[in-house]
Amino acid sequence: MPDPSELERYQQMTVRSKQAWENAKQHLPGGDSRTSIFWDPYPVFADHGQGCRLWDIDGTERIDFANSMTSLILGHADPQVVQAIQEQATKGFVYNAPNEHQVELARLLCERIPSFDMVRFTNSGTEATMNTLRGARAFTGRTKFAKAEGGYHGTHDAVEISVRTDPSQAGPADRPQPVPGVAGLSPEAVEQVIILPYNDTDATRRLLEEHRGELAAVMVEPVLGGSGMVPADPEYLTMLRDYTRSDGSVLIFDEVISYRVAPGGSQEYYGITPDMTALGKIIGGGFAVGAFGGRTDIMAQFDPTQGPKVQHSGTFNANPMTMIAGATTLSQMTPESYTRLAELTERLREGIRHVAAELEVPLQVTGLGSLFGIHFTPDPVRNYRDVYASNRDLRQRVFWGLMNEGIFCSPNLVLCLSTPMGQHEIDAFIEAFHKVLARNLPG
Ligand SMILES: Cc1ncc(COP(=O)(O)O)c(C=O)c1O
Repeated sequence: MPDPSELERYQQMTVRSKQAWENAKQHLPGGDSRTSIFWDPYPVFADHGQGCRLWDIDGTERIDFANSMTSLILGHADPQVVQAIQEQATKGFVYNAPNEHQVELARLLCERIPSFDMVRFTNSGTEATMNTLRGARAFTGRTKFAKAEGGYHGTHDAVEISVRTDPSQAGPADRPQPVPGVAGLSPEAVEQVIILPYNDTDATRRLLEEHRGELAAVMVEPVLGGSGMVPADPEYLTMLRDYTRSDGSVLIFDEVISYRVAPGGSQEYYGITPDMTALGKIIGGGFAVGAFGGRTDIMAQFDPTQGPKVQHSGTFNANPMTMIAGATTLSQMTPESYTRLAELTERLREGIRHVAAELEVPLQVTGLGSLFGIHFTPDPVRNYRDVYASNRDLRQRVFWGLMNEGIFCSPNLVLCLSTPMGQHEIDAFIEAFHKVLARNLPG
């Protein structure tokens, strides 16, 4: 019998998921409501999760290294979070009145995050980045803003630009051109954005100088997340801090993913405090969430007793279910838990590098804290174009292979750990990676 390809293996293991997907497509374009979790040829359908494990509807158990695109830092169905939301559920899901769980989560965030004098909650990271930008525009009276090529900040018009572009269509590396990420954007959105080359400090400084006095904000992920878990150079962030301070523009850190790095987010790790920060993912304990916060004078614009200058509403903002889940999650995340996760992840990165060296496959592992990304390239990965230039065909086969070997991944191999994981799960990943790479050697 010939050895089946990874894709054939995947299809053999996911017969019920395939049926569910065919069925789903009757009512949902593409069979789902979240394009980012679609993969070729069809995704597996989840049945249930427990701790760091996820079972699909074909009954296959996998160790979950996707964690719903980094959202689950305690893994699935953490007992304390389950108990908290069960108790809250008996008291009601959402009220037309503030609740005290929101105040507790706000306190935890403001005590931990250097830039957070004050915070407001939303239901997604998209709304969080949208409000940081709106706040910056209202505060400065300027409209243009700058973001990095490959930086993903959600789905609102202003930021869906130059996210997953083909570099051959996007201008020179040191002067990227804005490219609409999806059809249907307002043409103005493209005119209002300056695209920066991530981690190229000199070229970015030059571009920013050309727009001195025009920018409301510079928005940046301290770790380029969905595009590959690429940490910023400290000098890059320092330059952005110095420039925005001298220019009077607002420095926004999008820490929707990178908040995982330390109790105070990656701004604590780097020791660089932005003016505004957008959050999401882990702060909701697995429930739909976002938050934006920052300097008192900027946040005061959202205060209804002062006007407000910027109205910020949302039926489900700060609902008690999400707030109690988030507060119960963050109160379990001690500084020691971040350190432990970071050490485990570093061991995993080393293990992956070791496998690649043994099999002579060119590879880079990026990341910070509990975040990591795998890239099949001999060259250092410092920005979106470096990720794009890697061997994405091999990445696709390795993704199917890891799924076949009991490791749940996202297709771009942008991954993370959760606290229920230990050395056993690290060893399981490395063993599966070895098997998969050995049977998919390039060339
Ligand atoms: C860095 C970053 N910002 C913003 C968002 C948008 O968050 P949401 O999907 O909750 O709207 C994401 C989502 O993946 C993200 O990774």
